[in-house]
Amino acid sequence: MNILVINGPNLNLLGTREPDIYGHETLEELMMWLENCPEAIDHEFKFYQSNHEGEIIDILHDERHWAQGILINAGAYAHYSYAIRDAIAAISIPAVEVHLSDINQREDFRKKSVLKSVCISSVKGLGKNSYLEALNILL
Ligand code: DQA
Repeated sequence: MNILVINGPNLNLLGTREPDIYGHETLEELMMWLENCPEAIDHEFKFYQSNHEGEIIDILHDERHWAQGILINAGAYAHYSYAIRDAIAAISIPAVEVHLSDINQREDFRKKSVLKSVCISSVKGLGKNSYLEALNILL
């Protein structure tokens, strides 16, 4: 399976960003760990990180003929970006929403995800294992 992994705003700062919430590992370390998990063998990955809404939409558009599944941690955009929501809906590729933290147990504004209804599942609160759980759901 060709799997597109998209990480959104501020996730490039993982490792130093609020480590009590997001842990001490960098995004690169997390993505290398994911790609090297036994479940990932036999699958192709493309990893992207962007701090820009339009760029995330462009990635979804540009990779729509390659990708067969999507893992997306849209960061804060998950809570309000109808444009990313529409882009996921437009390309009709199964997507799983990922969050490292448990967005239901944090500030009220994080409790809502506008991506949830266009994703086949949402995984949250498991740290880096959220990505692995999401991959297993996709597979
Ligand atoms: C996050 C949760 C979001 O609320 C936050 O804005 C992030 C990270 C997570 O992985 O837990 O940037 O998506």
